[in-house]
Amino acid sequence: ETPRTISLAVIPGDGIGPEVTAEAVKVLLAVTGSSPVEFDLTEYPLGAEHWLATGETLPEKTLEALKGHDAILFGAVGAAPGDTQIPSGLIERELLLKLRFSLDHYVNLRPSRLYPGVDSPLAAPGDVDFIVVREGTEGPYAGNGGVLREGTPQEIATEVSLNTAYGVERVVRDAFVRAAARPRRHVTLVHKHNVLVNAGRLWKRTVEKVAQEFPDITHDYLHVDAATIFMVSDPSRFDVIVTDNLFGDIITDLAAAITGGIGLAASGNINMDRTFPSMFEPVHGSAPDIAGQQKADPTAAILSAALLLRHLGFDEEAGRVESAVAEDLAGRDGTRRTTAEVGNAIAAAVP
Ligand code: NAI
Ligand code: MG
Repeated sequence: ETPRTISLAVIPGDGIGPEVTAEAVKVLLAVTGSSPVEFDLTEYPLGAEHWLATGETLPEKTLEALKGHDAILFGAVGAAPGDTQIPSGLIERELLLKLRFSLDHYVNLRPSRLYPGVDSPLAAPGDVDFIVVREGTEGPYAGNGGVLREGTPQEIATEVSLNTAYGVERVVRDAFVRAAARPRRHVTLVHKHNVLVNAGRLWKRTVEKVAQEFPDITHDYLHVDAATIFMVSDPSRFDVIVTDNLFGDIITDLAAAITGGIGLAASGNINMDRTFPSMFEPVHGSAPDIAGQQKADPTAAILSAALLLRHLGFDEEAGRVESAVAEDLAGRDGTRRTTAEVGNAIAAAVP
């Protein structure tokens, strides 16, 4: 078989980003040994440090170059909280959100699986294995808002939630397609349609409509507040959750917390139309408190690389990475290992 070469952009970023990304790349390269897949890696220096050094967040020419790759592996960006040299929100808006919007990453995918051997803070977690399909380009994050009379007693600030029939339908359809490939075949819409009636009606109607195309998939509905209760009291009831940008942001942090925490939470910012490369990244940030000390857990970055493989059609290879991670997690006994030691162990466990 002729190997297929994946043109991969790597954005290590700031803080622990470069440390965990190096381990994810290591594991991807371990997969190539016994698979017809090769990687052609191009590294892009972007993030808070890059902005301090150059004044650039995401130059147009870099964005164009990124569009030419098959996928993007992203570490984390962001300065330390006390760093006053960087205006708050600059890197988020002009780099992270700009990438998601420019590359039309309309599916923000976050799997939540409680692996054997991993502790959950829940008293009785049960079998937790669900995915959240969060809308990534609309809702209150679309930048539709403004401020009048800022800093005065008469200040008015708005953030309008944008929900289009087109945007809702494509993400709902993605949730049903993903449910069709999972054993339990169940979709839960999470919203708040009793209060947010206009957007809520559009989401609910869209789910009813798309569900008709998938007669063997069951679906139900939960208000977002109730969803947070069930995520703690009965998380095994969930299979595929589909929800808007803001609710998804919040419930996926809770989902990460019940399944082993921030060191394990992976995500994909996915363009299912494949008009632009999708981007895979750990949920965590640059963790300035532990950066440069080889203390970060690279597992979230490695599981994000598995999502990358699956998105590109390498399901078998993705499964091998996940089973190497499962093996490593099952054997963890609290012994302190460096970031590279964890990466080496997982790379060596890749079957
Ligand atoms: P954070 O996720 O960087 O850190 C939160 C806590 O979790 C810290 O105590 C950190 O040490 C720990 N932690 C995070 N990842 C870990 C890992 N892999 N292994 C072990 N411990 C880990 O969130 P925080 O502190 O709110 O943000 C720090 C910076 O990161 C900020 O500048 C923020 O804007 C940025 N950020 C960037 C994100 C991204 O690039 N997508 C996402 C979230 C935050
Ligand atoms: Mg978040």
